[in-house]
Amino acid sequence: MDEPRLKLAIQKSGRLTDPSLEMLARCGLKISRGKDQLMAYGENMPLDVLFVRDDDIPDLVQEDVCDLGLVGLNVLEEKRLELAARGHPVRFEPLRTLDFGRCRLSLAVPQGQAFAGPAGLAGKRIATTYPYLLENYLRERGVTAEIVTLSGAVEIAPRLGRADLICDLVSTGSTLQANHLREVETVLESHAVLIRTPLTLPPLKSEWVERLVMRLDGVQQVRESKYIMLHAPRAALDEIRRLLPGSEFPTIIPLEGSPDKVAVHAVCRETVFWETLERLKKAGASAVLVLPVEKMLA
Ligand code: PRP
Ligand code: ZN
Repeated sequence: MDEPRLKLAIQKSGRLTDPSLEMLARCGLKISRGKDQLMAYGENMPLDVLFVRDDDIPDLVQEDVCDLGLVGLNVLEEKRLELAARGHPVRFEPLRTLDFGRCRLSLAVPQGQAFAGPAGLAGKRIATTYPYLLENYLRERGVTAEIVTLSGAVEIAPRLGRADLICDLVSTGSTLQANHLREVETVLESHAVLIRTPLTLPPLKSEWVERLVMRLDGVQQVRESKYIMLHAPRAALDEIRRLLPGSEFPTIIPLEGSPDKVAVHAVCRETVFWETLERLKKAGASAVLVLPVEKMLA
C-alpha cells in the first residue's frame, strides 16, 4: 500500500514564497517541481507542497484539502474574524510562529497629506483587502469610516479617487513609496505561521508532522545560534560563563601544560555581538572562535 502523503500549502508567488521554500529546504525536504506546476513532489519525505494564493490557505486547511499551511498571521486573523462574523467555527490550528514573513498591516495616506490620528478617520473612505481587520480596528477606536473592499491593487485606489487612504501590508515599504503613500498607523504586526488541520491524522502522517515541527524548531534555533570556543583563566571562569549569551552548560576542558587555564566550548542561543567578544577578552578570554551551527536537535 502507498504511504499516505502530507499536503502542505504555501503562497504561490509573493513575499512568503521564497522564505517558505528555503525553510523547507533547511528542514531537509527535497522537492521536484515542474514549471508552472501547482504541486511539488517531496522526494525524500512523504510530503507534497501545493502552491496556492495565500488567502486560500486557511480554507484549504480548514476544509481538510491540505494537512498543513504556511501563511501570514494577517491572512489568518482576517479569516478568523470573517468566520466569526458568519457564525462559522475556526478549524485551523496554529502549530508554530515562524521567524520570517515579518510585515505589518498599516494605514497609509497620500504623501503630503496630514494625519490627525485614528479620530481623524471619521467619514473617510479606506481601501483594503482586509475589511474585517480594518473594521475591528475602527470599532475598537469608536470611529465610523467607509471601508472600500478591493481584491488587489489597493495602493492605487487613492490616485483613482476610489479612497482617501489605504490599509495594506507593508514589508520593505517600497510599494508605498512607489505609490507616493505614507505609512501612519499599524493595525496588525504579522509574521509567518504554520497551521494544521484539526483532524486526527493517521499515524504515519502524524509522525511526519511531528518530525517536521521538530526540524523547524531546530532550524529557527540555529539561525541565531553560534558555537563559541575560547581559552580562559580558571579564575575568570564564573565571569566568562555569565558573559556567554544564552548558553546553559558550557563544556570545560583542561589544557595540557597550563594548569591555570581551560578551554571553554559553548553553544550560544542568542546573537553573539562584537561587544560580547570584547567583554570576554576583557575578562581574560583568549583564542576566541565563533562558529556557525549547522543543525541542532534538542
Ligand atoms: C503585499 C502587499 C504589498 C506588498 C508590500 O503583498 O499587498 O503589495 O506586499 O510589500 P513591500 O512593502 O515590501 O513593498 P503580498 O506579497 O502579501 O501578496 P498579496 O497581497 O497579493 O497576497
Ligand atoms: Zn494575498
